[in-house]
Amino acid sequence: MVTTLLTAGAAGAQATASTAPAAAALHRYPGADLALGEKLVREHKCTECHVRKVGGDGSAIYKPKGRINTPAALATMVEMCNTELNLGLFPDDVLSVAAVLQRDHYRFVAKP
Ligand code: HEC
Repeated sequence: MVTTLLTAGAAGAQATASTAPAAAALHRYPGADLALGEKLVREHKCTECHVRKVGGDGSAIYKPKGRINTPAALATMVEMCNTELNLGLFPDDVLSVAAVLQRDHYRFVAKP
């Protein structure tokens, strides 16, 4: 279900990717709310824990060229963290967090 939405979103984002990065992020994750995503990232101390692991500002944990290399994989990873860390995020929350990470760190461009 989530995967289907994401695939459709990734295709839809192609046209807007170059002109409107924020809108493109939303396109990749239908239903995503960037303001909510930012709030959730702060509330759940995602960055604090990542800083403990990789140092700096924690952003080195995000590796767009690693195994998380598609919008769908990113959403799946956030969902895994959600489950493992017992964050209690709803599916829309997960997409909103993924959209923020996409906008700030991963910046996936639509695949040809
Ligand atoms: C308790 C510590 C901890 C917290 C809290 C945490 N993470 Fe992580 N996260 C990690 C560790 C450790 C890794 C690296 C795992 C690995 O490389 O196998 C990671 C990896 C990731 C990755 C994959 C990075 C990549 O490109 O391979 C994402 C995405 C991610 N975290 C998102 C989040 C989000 C979003 C939150 C908050 C909702 C969060 N994490 C909270 C410890 C944490």
